[in-house]
Amino acid sequence: MFVAILFTCIGVLHAEPFTIINEFPGGTEASFTVHADHAIHGWQVRLVFDRPIYQLKIWVADIVSHTPTEWVVRNKEYNRDVSPGNDVTVEFQYFYSGDQVPHGTYTIQGFELTGYGTTFASNTAYSYLSATASSMRYNYSEALGLSILFYDAQRSGKLPTDNPIPWRGDSALSDADNRHDLSGGWYDAGKHIKYNFPMAFSTWVLEWGMLKFADGYKTAGQVNMACDMIRWPLEYFLKSWIPEKNILYVQVGDPDFEDIYWGRAENMNMSRPAYKVTESCKGSDVAGDTVSAFAAGYLVFKHMCSDAVFADKLLTAAKSLYTFTVNNRGRYTDCLTKTKTAYGSSFENDEVALAAVWMYKATRDNTYLSYARGHYPGGTSWTFSWDDVNPAVALLLYEETRHSVYKRDIESFIRDFLPGGKRYYTPCGLVWVAEWGTSRYAANVALIALMAAEEGIQPDTYKKWALSQINYILGDNKLHISYMIGFGNAFPLHPHHKGSACPTNVDWCFENASGPNPNILYGGLVGGPDRKDNYSDKREDEKQNSATCDGNAAFQSALAGLVHLAVRDSLPRAPDSRC
Ligand SMILES: *[C@@H]1O[C@H](CO)[C@@H](O)[C@H](O)[C@H]1NC(C)=O
Ligand SMILES: *[C@@H]1O[C@H](CO)[C@@H](O)[C@H](O)[C@H]1NC(C)=O
Ligand SMILES: *[C@@H]1O[C@H](CO)[C@@H](O)[C@H](O)[C@H]1NC(C)=O
Ligand SMILES: *[C@@H]1O[C@H](CO)[C@@H](O)[C@H](O)[C@H]1NC(C)=O
Repeated sequence: MFVAILFTCIGVLHAEPFTIINEFPGGTEASFTVHADHAIHGWQVRLVFDRPIYQLKIWVADIVSHTPTEWVVRNKEYNRDVSPGNDVTVEFQYFYSGDQVPHGTYTIQGFELTGYGTTFASNTAYSYLSATASSMRYNYSEALGLSILFYDAQRSGKLPTDNPIPWRGDSALSDADNRHDLSGGWYDAGKHIKYNFPMAFSTWVLEWGMLKFADGYKTAGQVNMACDMIRWPLEYFLKSWIPEKNILYVQVGDPDFEDIYWGRAENMNMSRPAYKVTESCKGSDVAGDTVSAFAAGYLVFKHMCSDAVFADKLLTAAKSLYTFTVNNRGRYTDCLTKTKTAYGSSFENDEVALAAVWMYKATRDNTYLSYARGHYPGGTSWTFSWDDVNPAVALLLYEETRHSVYKRDIESFIRDFLPGGKRYYTPCGLVWVAEWGTSRYAANVALIALMAAEEGIQPDTYKKWALSQINYILGDNKLHISYMIGFGNAFPLHPHHKGSACPTNVDWCFENASGPNPNILYGGLVGGPDRKDNYSDKREDEKQNSATCDGNAAFQSALAGLVHLAVRDSLPRAPDSRC
């Protein structure tokens, strides 16, 4: 026979407002702390919201009952007993529709056999990550921060005064076409071409992670760094798109000129021609990915990076470029042969459908959703990459419509990559897709699996599998090294990267120069191992030692996803390393 009492005033339950800690698109994180001045043996909380919420996530308690505005939760077994003088901190997240953040109050009841009372103390510091850090085999927050530095090392153009990469300076300031300025953007990899197709892919994949796993970025303390990072390619894309003329620039630099020079971007002086798609040289693949980068960028700058003016600029560009895209369907590599060797495009319908679904997410205009659904290519992709974005289209459409056709395609896609599926596995457990950039493919599919888990599709299996792949990359491998540069104690020292490999005081250097790269390319994810988990840290081996923009993108978003899961205490136990 428990007697329920609260506060010092026996029998009266005061409702107190809880404290909002974080807001992210569609959700809010809140907490309160209660001080126990007597022994408590069990407690119950009633949360009342001023607007309906559709989901409550709480780690330290079980939900007992709820209506949309009133939720009752009870202690778990492990935290039932509270000794006198101790605090109970209750943290939770809640999810809602619309732009108005619901606020609310809590009432807590403590139970005990004899008389007692509970008084409220002010909120204590919020420190949830310390509680979950022990369940993380690797420090995904640290890896996330490093990956951002990799993108900062890829910057072309006039660098800001807060450039965090000491060995990088201004470069390619005269990138232009007929005096139309095209400076800025990211160099693609260890060479200095700007390929907009993979750059746009990287941009929206990063934005997707920022939107979905905003709490991961917040927990890692990387929100400002991420906002700076992602603004860079977006500003360049704004220069690349001239709506009045229906011109979209899609590449700067010629691989034939580029390849004869092994030196830093700051010193290069070869001619750097620009290539464009137009109404006569169509490229709805690269245009579609750029629309996605703009539209998702709008959401990022509206909700996470707090720059409404820039967000609106992005949305305006997205709308006109979308019209150009759907009216000028075609593969850019059919027209621009200089792009073919590095980033030839197999299809363009996937990027067009993707552009439409991102436009829907940015505007909520049903015309876009209908177009996306009508042009969804369907089927099971070979992989998810800069050339094939179909798995992302399926996921985003599933998120918006909950139609089973998309879910089925996602499941059949991921099934191929799970153990027992169609893909080859290295003995130590990395799913092995291709010789170039092996780790990148594993990370790309890991992101799809984490995104699917967020939508409630086989969450336990998918989270665990994604974790196994990311952990392989960070150290659960035969050599016990990290394939991300700068992470852990052992990592690649000779990435195939001109800026990292050449000392800052020389005009050029030798690709095969002995010794580690003088400038550490922090955060770069190199290609990684071969089919037998072997890897040689050798600069000339471009397959295993390149770090590319598209290679880091899904990896970084997946890292944010793992931090996000850790925050919610729903990171599965790390699978044992096979080697
Ligand atoms: C993880 O890395 C971050 C950034 O380097 C650091 O602040 C944090 O203390 C690390 N966490 C743990 C548990 O080591
Ligand atoms: C480019 O730089 C190289 C090395 O500094 C120099 O030899 C060459 O003359 C330069 N070419 C032009 C066109 O400036
Ligand atoms: C590097 O390659 C050049 C030829 O490309 C060769 O002459 C030179 O000996 C090589 N240097 C080293 C250190 O292997
Ligand atoms: C890979 O490493 C194993 C030893 O772990 C060795 O037996 C094998 O020959 C290596 N394979 C290649 C292709 O280097």
